Amino acid sequence: MRPFERCIHALPRPLVRGLRNLWLRVLDSKDRLIRDRDALTPPRSLHHIGGGDFKTIGQAFVGHFVKVCGLRPDEKILDIGCGTGRMAIPLLQYLNGAGQYVGFDVSQKAIRWCRDHITLQNPRFVFYYADICNKEYNPRGRLSAVEYKFPCDDESIDFVFAASVFTHMRGDEVKHYFDEIRRVLKPSGRAMLSFFIIDDTANRLMTSGKSSLNFHVKSADCCTINRRTPESAIAYSESQLFQFLQDAKLVLSLPVLYGSWSGRQTMLDYQDVAVVKRER
Ligand SMILES: C[S@@+](CC[C@H](N)C(=O)[O-])C[C@H]1O[C@@H](n2cnc3c(N)ncnc32)[C@H](O)[C@@H]1O
Repeated sequence: MRPFERCIHALPRPLVRGLRNLWLRVLDSKDRLIRDRDALTPPRSLHHIGGGDFKTIGQAFVGHFVKVCGLRPDEKILDIGCGTGRMAIPLLQYLNGAGQYVGFDVSQKAIRWCRDHITLQNPRFVFYYADICNKEYNPRGRLSAVEYKFPCDDESIDFVFAASVFTHMRGDEVKHYFDEIRRVLKPSGRAMLSFFIIDDTANRLMTSGKSSLNFHVKSADCCTINRRTPESAIAYSESQLFQFLQDAKLVLSLPVLYGSWSGRQTMLDYQDVAVVKRER
């Protein structure tokens, strides 16, 4: 981790969020000036979902859904923590008339934008606002993630994904969401979930300063980069993650696809990715 990043992570989170929002507004103004934003690209300051190019990342993920998980155009998808529809937008092109998409998120602004722009294009894309408290994304939320029931019937979903969501959730919340994933997945269903996973290699790379994040604050079941707002970025040990899967009767369908965050060279994505299915 570079010294500049270390300083940023040491600042109070509300200050970091305020400064980031200011910068994103500057970039939004630039986009407006040079007309560099089409109708299906949300303003960057609407809801922060991480760096990188919005469209390129969305398309890359949909490519992984198809190549790694065999997603078909007629399937029903659940997007946990859908944000501003980064994956829903390329899925508009991929799903056919039989396919369906459900997304939910704790950001009311993001869900409103998705309904106004994405559902408008295709009413089979449905978005739900979940007023769940998350210190980083919805600090005033009224509900707890551990009580939230996903807006889907039992065994109704072919493919679930959560991109960069469990990296902002605490252990008891992840455990409950895994139970919900198990509940909504069809017996033939599969899920692609991203994490920051700490194994021996990640630990070694973090210690030698090669990783882009340093999860130095340890608590009972997770590690974080920020003591006051753990939800800014949370990592789990590989054994803890496997325990969550086992408790929810989910199993890996493939070996973990490690990401580049830790400094590894071979990767699918920035985060570590687990592809899972229901245990038989
Ligand atoms: C880094 S963003 C990723 C957004 C989206 N998955 C993407 O890749 O574009 C993390 C998202 O998780 C959402 N989130 C945080 N806690 C959540 C929870 N308990 N349930 C659902 N979404 C949550 C945030 O509002 C935010 O949109």
